[in-house]
Amino acid sequence: MIRSNYYTFKILRYDAKDPLREPYFQSYHVKVVSGLTVLSVLNRIRDEIDGTLAFRASCRSAICGSCAMVINGKIDLACRTQVATFESDTVILEPLPNFEVMRDLVVDMTPFWEMYEQVQPYLIRESAVPEKEIYQSEKDRKKIDQFVNCILCACCYGACPVIADEPGYLGPAAAAKLERFILDSRDERPADSLESVNTPKGVWACRTVFRCIDACPKDVRPTDAIVNLRKNLVKNRFNMILGSKKK
Ligand code: SF4
Ligand code: F3S
Repeated sequence: MIRSNYYTFKILRYDAKDPLREPYFQSYHVKVVSGLTVLSVLNRIRDEIDGTLAFRASCRSAICGSCAMVINGKIDLACRTQVATFESDTVILEPLPNFEVMRDLVVDMTPFWEMYEQVQPYLIRESAVPEKEIYQSEKDRKKIDQFVNCILCACCYGACPVIADEPGYLGPAAAAKLERFILDSRDERPADSLESVNTPKGVWACRTVFRCIDACPKDVRPTDAIVNLRKNLVKNRFNMILGSKKK
């Protein structure tokens, strides 16, 4: 049976182009039927009530990663969050933390993409370019399954307390992406390419608080990646020391 109810959506409004106006909550009363997601409500508000409301969204299917925000205090994707699951009929929407707000629920993702680029998030090959696609066994594909699922939504980045304390921290998503390529049987990046994250603001800045794992809507575990990257760095260092002693 489809049930309907009126909900109050309190949305944090702000415009970086009008910095003299402090952020404020604006309330919208919307009739919600069961099955409606937070994103559907946002679309309805923008289309029928207030065309000035700004938010990002695209696929509506938890694939594009555009609609990450804070929903009743929890970081999640608006498109996969059912309104009817809330205990209260008041829903508070805020932009992702750890980013500069551009307008309303739209944040400036530049620092996130800068960290992402830093890890060279693509296959690196040293062998000659093959004529056909490079075969990958089912077993090898399984090793990267969870990391391939990352949709770059930045929920983990918004949830990580180190990002706020340490500007320039690599962050969980970039680390997970680097691990994805290191584990990929087709990738041939040299072992010393890991050195780019072997810094106080690289993998060593993580305090293993696991909030990135809790926030991830795709069950990626960035902390696992960070711990593995650290292990690899230590292993490389040992190998280097042992190698130099043998000479
Ligand atoms: Fe989003 Fe998860 Fe990827 Fe982080 S690891 S960007 S939370 S999908
Ligand atoms: Fe941040 Fe995740 Fe580490 S929340 S501190 S990257 S475990």
